[in-house]
Amino acid sequence: MDTNKLIRAAFEARERAYAPYSHFKVGAALLAEDGRIFTGCNIENAAFTPTICAERTALFKAVSEGVRCFQAIAIVGSLEGEKNRLVTSPCGVCRQALNEFCEKDMPLILAKSEEEYQIITLGELLPLGFGPKNIQ
Ligand code: THU
Repeated sequence: MDTNKLIRAAFEARERAYAPYSHFKVGAALLAEDGRIFTGCNIENAAFTPTICAERTALFKAVSEGVRCFQAIAIVGSLEGEKNRLVTSPCGVCRQALNEFCEKDMPLILAKSEEEYQIITLGELLPLGFGPKNIQ
């Protein structure tokens, strides 16, 4: 896996974030099993509730294209015009959405830059997560 390439793709996706309310722009790059990269950004809404996070945008783009197996995801987020102070970790809804399709050991690359990032697995972020296996 080319970690730097995935982080770069997440930064590129962040450029397309639509965040006129929070001014917090997020980009995600999801690496599929076959090597394809699906990117996503957050897309906010004047009614607030329909807002979607970058991670789910990327995931739903992939799944809607017939791709369901993934190797990794890179996530970057920061306020408009600010350098990343903290890593952006996916919200609870996105953790649950990823849990539907990704293995517990899938790495999430939470990046401040191409040089500064931390890697955590989905299982660490969502211990005892409820998933497809529970209802099979
Ligand atoms: N957001 C994401 O896109 N991903 C995250 O991991 C955290 C939050 C978005 C939602 C909203 O548009 C903005 O960031 C502020 O919460």
